[in-house]
Amino acid sequence: MHAAVVSSFDEPPRYAEFATPVPADGQVLVDMLAAGLHPRVRSGASGTHYTSDGRLPMIPGVDGVARLADGQRVYFVADDDVPGTMADKALLDPRRAVPLPEAADPAVIAAAMNPAMSSWVALRRRIAFQPGQSVLILGATGNAGQMAVQIARNLGAAHIVAAGRDPQRLDLLAGLGATTVVSLAGDPEQAASAVGEAAADVDAVIDYTWGEPAQLVIPAVLARRAERGKPLDWIQIGSMAGAEITLPSFVLRAANLRIMGSGQGSVTAAGIVAELPSLIDQLVAGTLTAAALPVPLAEVETAWTAPTEPGHRLVFTTSA
Ligand SMILES: NC(=O)c1ccc[n+]([C@@H]2O[C@H](COP(=O)([O-])OP(=O)(O)OC[C@H]3O[C@@H](n4cnc5c(N)ncnc54)[C@H](OP(=O)(O)O)[C@@H]3O)[C@@H](O)[C@H]2O)c1
Repeated sequence: MHAAVVSSFDEPPRYAEFATPVPADGQVLVDMLAAGLHPRVRSGASGTHYTSDGRLPMIPGVDGVARLADGQRVYFVADDDVPGTMADKALLDPRRAVPLPEAADPAVIAAAMNPAMSSWVALRRRIAFQPGQSVLILGATGNAGQMAVQIARNLGAAHIVAAGRDPQRLDLLAGLGATTVVSLAGDPEQAASAVGEAAADVDAVIDYTWGEPAQLVIPAVLARRAERGKPLDWIQIGSMAGAEITLPSFVLRAANLRIMGSGQGSVTAAGIVAELPSLIDQLVAGTLTAAALPVPLAEVETAWTAPTEPGHRLVFTTSA
């Protein structure tokens, strides 16, 4: 088969021949249709993801849309220890796959599911977000952030505060459901104060940044809360601005702050898969939208490093 093959962690994958993987018990070999180039895929292909074992050559890709032998198309999430999904064929565990309706566009599904499930699973599985509650999305200008804004809207959020850097993306977020947008560009302390003002009384935070923005925004929000005892569920999802923060202990005593993460591990694989069909329904119905940039897998080497418009997700397609 052909695949995107990483032979060096310093170089983009090349389109090359690769041995077709052999299914183990409980796996099936499927024809790939589309696989998204998510941040998690890039870190795997550069050897920097925590699951990376340093072995080369490797095929990147953590999820995608495939066709089963009976013709049924499915969206699936790959196991960590199998070759990736950016190939003509991939190994699929049926417990990690959900069928797609006829109307589903493979490129849109492959672009959207990874960023969309980050907030959908967090708001449904890590907390029980209720209609009428309010949410802050920190780092809202990326693919996952723009999905989080729409998902919060679809779940009936009363106020959606979207904070991010890119001014053009921030403008678009108002049209997707954000009730207040706040810029994270410029002086970090001033930006955190502005977020604190706008999000003082939110019930939950979907945090894609961690690092300096989170470190400054946590106390900025808590200091402005009308009621310190009101729970604030801070759900850590991505670390675009840094892997670590420093958190003074009084912050945890002086308010009802509950910090948790959301992702594979903090939610079981079965729990994540159970949430996927309703996300697919929203994507097919058009109540949740994503900007997919489909590119043939054969062009992976040049497309990998070409600049991509923010908020758009590159998807490698195969013609199975
Ligand atoms: N845990 C999960 O279940 C899960 C699932 C999916 C994704 N994720 C994680 O979520 C994060 C976002 O994913 P994505 O698909 O949205 O990526 P993306 O489309 O590449 O967007 C990332 C955004 O991060 C912003 N950013 C980068 N550095 C920043 C900084 N220093 N301060 C503030 N914003 C910064 C950029 O916004 P500007 O353009 O405004 O600068 C960029 O648009 C990644 O860390 C990803 O691994 C987690």
